[in-house]
Amino acid sequence: MLRFVFTKTARYPGHEVEHNQFMRNLRTLAVNIKYRGFRRTILGLLANIFAKARLSLLEEYRFFKQNIRESGLDTTGIVECDKLDIPDERRGSARRYEASSDYEFRYVLEKLHIDYSNYHFVDYGSGKGAILAAAARYPFRSVTGVELSQALHETARDNIAKLQDRGRVRSGALTSVHGDAASYRLPAAAHVIYVFNAFGPDVLEDVLARISEDLADVREPVYFLYNNPMHHSLLDESPEYDRLRNAFGGKWKVYVRRGGR
Ligand SMILES: C[S@@+](CC[C@H](N)C(=O)[O-])C[C@H]1O[C@@H](n2cnc3c(N)ncnc32)[C@H](O)[C@@H]1O
Repeated sequence: MLRFVFTKTARYPGHEVEHNQFMRNLRTLAVNIKYRGFRRTILGLLANIFAKARLSLLEEYRFFKQNIRESGLDTTGIVECDKLDIPDERRGSARRYEASSDYEFRYVLEKLHIDYSNYHFVDYGSGKGAILAAAARYPFRSVTGVELSQALHETARDNIAKLQDRGRVRSGALTSVHGDAASYRLPAAAHVIYVFNAFGPDVLEDVLARISEDLADVREPVYFLYNNPMHHSLLDESPEYDRLRNAFGGKWKVYVRRGGR
C-alpha cells in the first residue's frame, strides 16, 4: 500500500524508472512557492482542482497559463511522436514533445552553485525552447538547443526572437539548431548538458560518445542534468560520470564528468 502511494513508475516499452511520487510532489510544491510565490501557487492548485472537476473557475490561474503570461512564450502542448516531422529512421527512438517545468530546471541548476559565465549550455531535443528560455536567464557563455523537428525548431526560433526583443536574454548567443542530437558537435569548453527524456539509448549513446570526443581535453567539469532519466544506466555505468544527486524524488538525476581523467 505504502509503496503504491509513494512510488510512481514512468514507463516506455521495455524501460521503466521508478521515482518517489510523494517526495516529488513535496519538492514541486516548495519550488513553485519559491519561484511563483505563495498566492499564485495556491491559486494554481485550486485552478487545477476546478479543472479536474470540469468547473471553469480561476481558469486564468492554471499553471500553464501563468507561465505563458509570465514568459510571453507559448511552449505548451504535447506533440506525439507520430506527429513529429522527423526522419523515419529516428521515429523509433524519438520521444514526444512536451515542455519541462522551468521552475524544476531552475531549482536543479541553481543547486550546482557554478559560475555560469564559464559554461556553455546545451539542451539535446530542445523542442519549442522552454528550457532555452529558462537557461537564457543565466549568464551562460552560450545557450544552444538541438531539435530534430523542423516545425518545433521554427517555433523555438520565434520564441528566441521574442525574448531578444524584450531584452530577456542574459546569456551569450541563444540559438536553436535544427539537427540530430547524435551528430551535434560541441566546442571544447565546460558545459552544462540537459536532456528531458528526448530519445532512446541508441541516440543517448551517440550523444555521450560525442561529448567524450569533443570535450576530451576539457579540464573543467561537465554537468549532465537528466530529467525523466529513462536510460540513466548508461550514465551510471559510464566510468566518466559520477552521480551527484537525485532531485524531485529521483525524477531528475544529476551527473558530473570531472575533467582531467
Ligand atoms: C520531451 S521533449 C523535450 C523538450 C525540451 N527539451 C524541454 O525540456 O522543454 C523531447 C524533444 O526531443 C526531440 N528529439 C527526439 N529525438 C531527437 C534527436 N535525435 N535529435 C534532436 N532532437 C530530438 C523531440 O522532437 C522533442 O521535441
